Amino acid sequence: MSAIKAKTGHKFGNMEEAPADLVSAINQLRKERNAIILAHYYQNSEIQDIADFIGDSLELSRKAANTDADVIVFCGVHFMAETAKILSPEKIVLLPDTDAGCSLADDCPADEFESFRAEHPDHYVVSYINCTAAVKAQSDLICTSSNAVDLVNQLPVDQPILFAPDQNLGRWVQRQSGRDLTLWPGRCVVHETFSEEALIRLKLQNPEAEVIAHPECQENLLDLADFIGSTSKLLIHSQNSSASTFIVLTEPGILHQMSKTVPEKNFIDVPGLDGCSCNACPYMRLNTLEKLWSCLKTLEPEIKMDESERLKAFAPMQRMLEMSR
Ligand code: 13P
Ligand code: SF4
Repeated sequence: MSAIKAKTGHKFGNMEEAPADLVSAINQLRKERNAIILAHYYQNSEIQDIADFIGDSLELSRKAANTDADVIVFCGVHFMAETAKILSPEKIVLLPDTDAGCSLADDCPADEFESFRAEHPDHYVVSYINCTAAVKAQSDLICTSSNAVDLVNQLPVDQPILFAPDQNLGRWVQRQSGRDLTLWPGRCVVHETFSEEALIRLKLQNPEAEVIAHPECQENLLDLADFIGSTSKLLIHSQNSSASTFIVLTEPGILHQMSKTVPEKNFIDVPGLDGCSCNACPYMRLNTLEKLWSCLKTLEPEIKMDESERLKAFAPMQRMLEMSR
């Protein structure tokens, strides 16, 4: 199979001087371009505040598939913008910084994945949306962290399943569904760095707090969690739970929305190993208001994809959207 490579116009650079009032300039350009700004919860607060829509991977995919806008500015990472292009090929899809990648997508090169699949020819391939278009094209079904368990539960019980690329999410889906999954050994650099020792210390200091965690975290941390879910599910849980303090095991960008929607509650983020603040996603945080303004002005960097290659990646994405209605 030929590898799919999404091409981008150019990497962010040589930006003309940004105006002093960036927010007004972005608002004017988004109107002129008939653009929609989509943002993931792990974006910087100022990007979340200017976005037309904020969501988890599933919600953002649905929005990208259904928008009337001519231009989609995807404030997230490369696989997300690529997914928007797969779902809306007629639209101009922009990513403010093309270096905004993802360790999970990087951990699963298409050629190695093809060999892995060849070793398991009878397996149905379920891939987490955090992968490249070339890996999506080799998959039977795409999932996100919010629908993975439900989708796996819909597959025939005697069907062997290969799950890629996040082994932590895969292990969690395995436990929730009772299915035996063959896992690709990928990992998220953010969710792998949380310190169990720091979490236990925070629990002792805040005995009334609920621990809420993203399933990309390692099993030893998930074992200490009271609630596990995608970013949207964590946000909704923080609103509905009777707890007033939460220890949050995911990228701290989500704390901005949590504090906005329930300002009377307390949200505590967990430091990484050695007390570092490496729990902020180094890829997500490459996007800035200046780069957002620049890409609206120049319509670059743009995500581009060959139509035949897009169609291969579209089929398992469409299956996901149909099965998770
Ligand atoms: P969700 O927002 O779908 O939970 O995904 C988390 C994530 O790691 C995105 O990169
Ligand atoms: Fe990838 Fe992890 Fe960053 Fe999400 S948080 S984009 S999974 S590296």
